[in-house]
Amino acid sequence: PNTTLEQQLPVLSEDVSSWKGASVLSVTQMTPGGLSLVFEIAHQMRVMVQTQGADTRCQGKLLATVFYEASTRTACSFQAAMMRLGGNFLHVDGEGGNSSAAKKGESLTDTVRCLECYTDVTVLRHYNQGSVGTVIEAATKPVINAGDGVGEHPTQALLDVFTIYDELKLPLSSNATENSKPLTIVLLGDLKHGRTVHSLAKLLAKSHTAGVTLRYCAPAGLELPEEIQEYVAQFDHVTQETMTDLREACQQANILYVTRVQRERFESDEAYQAVKGSYVVDAELMQQVPSDMIVLHPLPRIDEIDPAVDSDPRAAYFREMENGMYVRMALLALVLGKV
Ligand code: CP
Repeated sequence: PNTTLEQQLPVLSEDVSSWKGASVLSVTQMTPGGLSLVFEIAHQMRVMVQTQGADTRCQGKLLATVFYEASTRTACSFQAAMMRLGGNFLHVDGEGGNSSAAKKGESLTDTVRCLECYTDVTVLRHYNQGSVGTVIEAATKPVINAGDGVGEHPTQALLDVFTIYDELKLPLSSNATENSKPLTIVLLGDLKHGRTVHSLAKLLAKSHTAGVTLRYCAPAGLELPEEIQEYVAQFDHVTQETMTDLREACQQANILYVTRVQRERFESDEAYQAVKGSYVVDAELMQQVPSDMIVLHPLPRIDEIDPAVDSDPRAAYFREMENGMYVRMALLALVLGKV
């Protein structure tokens, strides 16, 4: 639904000025050089936080976090990111809470237009695909997509690729593509509803020009949507494979990216019960997969990764979560012109 709008939005490149004042709707806005820029700044943010905790570059700036769907990581990491940059935030829930006139029937666009009278940048999550794009068309200040239904979750994909490069010790800069290597990545779980995998598949296809094999492993009926596969198919350096056996899919894989089956997206609980638990990553599986294969998950998890796996050094999902704050610090600094 956002294809035309995506084409009108700014291309986010290695030029810092392309980010200032920009809204971030989709990973398709980003060039490989733009990705490198975010990663280089995120790396600097990590060093800064680890050495001094915070700085003051966004002093006087305010972030609005507007969430019509539940969130722990995305909301809190953006809020923490803004505070570690010296700024502050205000938080508004959707119709379910008391912090917004959405409960009285105010439109999403009006709510964001109101908040941007008080703040400098909005981070928005909504349950309808395309909703964040509609708001961006009406907004006068930067809006960052924090997940629009089953559409996209671009900032999650940024932190996922940052974590992949970090864990595999690949160069963060696309200028060093010749020093990079082809990747094999298994995308596991609810690939139909999982907006994180939609953004991740697109971003890897667009940016990892050293070569990518994407192996899709989903329960029946939860396969990656055709339009995402078609987008990925534009790139000659990407191979797409559909597999059902998880052990086979993990052979020679560099990354296993696990997602939960999204109960809230099913039309009936019977339909959810029929597919939940189809795939489980446990200690037994981890003994049968490559000794250097990294396990990621955007979280929250339900039952698809046994907690016994958490102590395996290949389990990187907690490090992935921490990286989210550094990547979101980089994004806020870029769109606010405070790099
Ligand atoms: N990964 C992610 O989007 O988590 P939250 O739903 O907690 O924000």
